Amino acid sequence: MTAPAETLARIATLRAEILYHNRQYYVLDEPQIPDAEYDRLLRELQDLERQYPELVTLDSPTQRVGAEPLAVFSEVEHALPMLSLDNAFDEGELADFDRRVRERLRVQEVWYAAEPKLDGLAVSLRYEEGVLVRGATRGDGRRGEDVTAGVRTIATVPLRLIGEDYPPLLEVRGEVYMPKAGFEALNERARSRGEKGFANPRNAAAGSLRQLDPKVTAQRPLAVFCYGIGLVEGELPGTTHDAVMRRLTDWGLPISPELQRVRGLEGCLRYYHAIGERREGFDYEIDGVVFKVDRLDQQQDLGSVARAPRWAIAYKFPALEELTRLLAIDVQVGRTGALTPVARLEPVTVAGVTVTNATLHNEDEIQRKDLRIGDTVIVRRAGDVIPQVLGVVMERRPAEAAPFRMPRYCPECGSEVVRVPGEAVSRCSAGLFCPAQRKQAIKHFASRRAMDIEGLGDKLIEQLVDQQLVASPADLYWLDAATLSGLERMGEKSARNLIQALEESKQATLSRFLYALGIREVGEATAQALAHHFGDLEPLRAAAVEELQQVPDVGPVVAAQVVAFFRQPHNLQVIEHLLQAGIHWEVTERVGDEGMPLAGRTFVLTGTLSRPRGEIKQRLESLGAKVTGSVSRKTSYLVAGADAGSKLGDAHALRVPVLDEAGLNELLAGSATD
Ligand code: IVH
Repeated sequence: MTAPAETLARIATLRAEILYHNRQYYVLDEPQIPDAEYDRLLRELQDLERQYPELVTLDSPTQRVGAEPLAVFSEVEHALPMLSLDNAFDEGELADFDRRVRERLRVQEVWYAAEPKLDGLAVSLRYEEGVLVRGATRGDGRRGEDVTAGVRTIATVPLRLIGEDYPPLLEVRGEVYMPKAGFEALNERARSRGEKGFANPRNAAAGSLRQLDPKVTAQRPLAVFCYGIGLVEGELPGTTHDAVMRRLTDWGLPISPELQRVRGLEGCLRYYHAIGERREGFDYEIDGVVFKVDRLDQQQDLGSVARAPRWAIAYKFPALEELTRLLAIDVQVGRTGALTPVARLEPVTVAGVTVTNATLHNEDEIQRKDLRIGDTVIVRRAGDVIPQVLGVVMERRPAEAAPFRMPRYCPECGSEVVRVPGEAVSRCSAGLFCPAQRKQAIKHFASRRAMDIEGLGDKLIEQLVDQQLVASPADLYWLDAATLSGLERMGEKSARNLIQALEESKQATLSRFLYALGIREVGEATAQALAHHFGDLEPLRAAAVEELQQVPDVGPVVAAQVVAFFRQPHNLQVIEHLLQAGIHWEVTERVGDEGMPLAGRTFVLTGTLSRPRGEIKQRLESLGAKVTGSVSRKTSYLVAGADAGSKLGDAHALRVPVLDEAGLNELLAGSATD
């Protein structure tokens, strides 16, 4: 049968793609697509080649195991090739495997050795007279890389075998992997340095072992499980896979504690499901289980094809990673005002669950991964955790893919979004007003160290907000006993008590009140310092960043938050209502005024003045004032000399007081401190 032109073209495309991804995966440790996608490409090629065997070429990726070794490590020739495994993706394919094995061996039933399939990278360890002389990666299966220095740093790899009865030459094959916890910690550290981190534990293991500097490898939490043997001189250490593995442990080599003999297809299936259920609980990643015909003589009879033995198969678990499209990035506002970007995805089934959303953590994370709307992304779902977007398939980026920007205004309430320098999180600045933060803000307001409103517990606050009786802390003061006693678990007496407690809370102190407002970064101590410095609310409200920073312990971060808070009209409105409700405190002397009589005032200078502007500016600033370039509602005075222009018009329009030079001099004389 001759193949149609499309098929020829498809085969060529598949080969090129697979070769490309082989290199990304094996050589560069930077896979571009999830394994599931790679497996599909390989399968499609295998199917086509099965249909048209005359098209199989010696260099087809189906005929080899991995990629060329990386040039920088010296090359190692494997005495016996390191093979790969065929995969089964469902019960039918596993049953086919079992049937083929039984038919070839002409037996009714086969015992298999079963073990988890670890997701790491294959190594061959060569022991001569019990001493570890070489470690090699698989490479293309025939030639790998010499990673002796790296494997010697792995704590569980014995440098010398225990006992006496080991063969004079023993090659052990196994999987080097990175436990999940170590992987998380490693990535955490990478991220804190602004680096990208590894996509998954397997890449982390590969990237760590294939370090040219073994000192780096030594710091990586690597481990190894042995799953087979290569060349052996002398007597074979057993007649079944299981027995050989047990011998390896006698000599100090680690094997999987899950290794088990199972009987026939039924035993395989039971093992597969049992391991699948415990999958999340293992402290290392597994992507399936491997079944090997247990008897070595039977393995011998079955032999191998180009890339894999006929006596073993990997029965894969549903993939945890899949590809899908990033349709949009929405922003959610959390209870504390933190804005979290959320990926809206084209629905995709990952390990049996449909995924449509994934968390993106924060803005920096999106930048680091260079995610754009319209991209094809890798999604990962494991256990109960929220699905994650691991990265982008760059080759599939459409021209119109759009970058993401954090909104400047809160999507819930329209208030300004603030991102404190040095922090990853962006937050809505409207603490008191934002519906997303309402309950939290009211709970904080009523709490003991804030306004200390006795009898106003969390459950009650939730009811009040849910029933829209209260939208801000100020609304609390307009509640009446009748409304309150109608609520769940509220009798008449407790309603009256609460009204009384609210009444009492009106006699406040400025520092409690400031703390109760829930301004970001303003804890109790800062609230006290601010209250002490400013004495009353108004000067604090009007204060600029520079003056705030004169308060002990107030740095640029706190100052920026305070200014942002008081810049929000909503917050001012809530404060206004609270004051109207009767909240008051004793005004104290303003400590900050000493020597700074103009602190908090803003001046604009315009027109021709008798002295240089710089000189006047300096004088004003020395008295604590701020001098800016344009007139706004916040301007305290416009100082207008001769021929003043448009600024004078602005001042009139905004009802900003205007001083001539004489007026300014008067003000300065009155403020003189020297
Ligand atoms: S046996 C000739 N057993 O999976 C048989 N392989 O996809 C060689 N792997 O190259 C493999 N856990 O890197 C075997 N328990 C296990 C395994 C395992 C992980 C890896 C190994 C192999 C690859 C094949």
